[in-house]
Amino acid sequence: MGNSDNFNLRVTDKEYNALKDIMYARTGVLLKPTKKPLILTRLRKRLEELNIKRFMEYVPLLEDKRSSEIEIFVNALTTNETYFFRHTKQFNFLFEKIFPEIIETRRAEGRREIKIWTAACSTGEEPYSIAIACREFFFKHPGWGVKICASDVNSDVLAFAKEGKYSERSLKEVPETMVKKYFREMDFDNKKKWQSFALSDEIKKMVDFYQHNLLKPFVQKGFDVIFLRNVMIYFDNESKQKVVSNIQNNLITGGYFFISLSESLSDVNSQLEGIRSGIYQKVK
Ligand SMILES: C[S@@+](CC[C@H](N)C(=O)[O-])C[C@H]1O[C@@H](n2cnc3c(N)ncnc32)[C@H](O)[C@@H]1O
Repeated sequence: MGNSDNFNLRVTDKEYNALKDIMYARTGVLLKPTKKPLILTRLRKRLEELNIKRFMEYVPLLEDKRSSEIEIFVNALTTNETYFFRHTKQFNFLFEKIFPEIIETRRAEGRREIKIWTAACSTGEEPYSIAIACREFFFKHPGWGVKICASDVNSDVLAFAKEGKYSERSLKEVPETMVKKYFREMDFDNKKKWQSFALSDEIKKMVDFYQHNLLKPFVQKGFDVIFLRNVMIYFDNESKQKVVSNIQNNLITGGYFFISLSESLSDVNSQLEGIRSGIYQKVK
């Protein structure tokens, strides 16, 4: 049962401003005033657990450098919506245009390796979709090394991703033949609401997960392709500029950068040139 005092829990303007500033400084995510109800629903249970009755009492905990509460706070407030093969056309472009092109250019260089990073991977559907696409394509080209890195700031989604178990809803864009090939429907007794299909170990092993904040530089460099989809919509212009300036350094010249179909880089300065909706290429 919830603490009855928490029925009256609300977010005052002062509390909202303090929480918004902390989230922004930590992740670059701007919680607009319309997100006040979200703050309330996502954090109510946590405040109950801590027996805290007002958000003003919660703020010092978030500011305390010795406490790990900030991680729980960030995990609660990020939006993690994702599914396999989201924006399917972009995966077709990867498969039909980018992979063959890389095979061709690398032939001349004598290097048989492709490196891909999905930089806000949420619960893993995006990097695993890339892994499936790579498995399908590069299987026909033996001797190729495929390296897929996936990262997110939220430690809960990363733990979920590493388990590799998904709901039927998450698989809605996966062709039936691929579901059969790469997933196993779990026995009724082992099924959980959000986890009824287990991804094959072969695909799971292809992805390395990292906890990484996009406001900071990522240690791995030299990526041929970077996915940064459906995260910049939560940033203001300043965060967006900071993140894009950072991330383009991880991409090779000529490398491809994917954002979502509802995002654009028209309002930031970068070395990235649009080649089609949601897909950019790094120029010198
Ligand atoms: C809506 S999901 C996008 C998932 C996937 N890229 C897709 O398009 O389906 C946005 C993700 O961005 C992550 N995120 C937000 N701010 C971040 C930051 N500063 N650094 C890294 N990840 C961040 C969130 O934790 C969340 O999992």
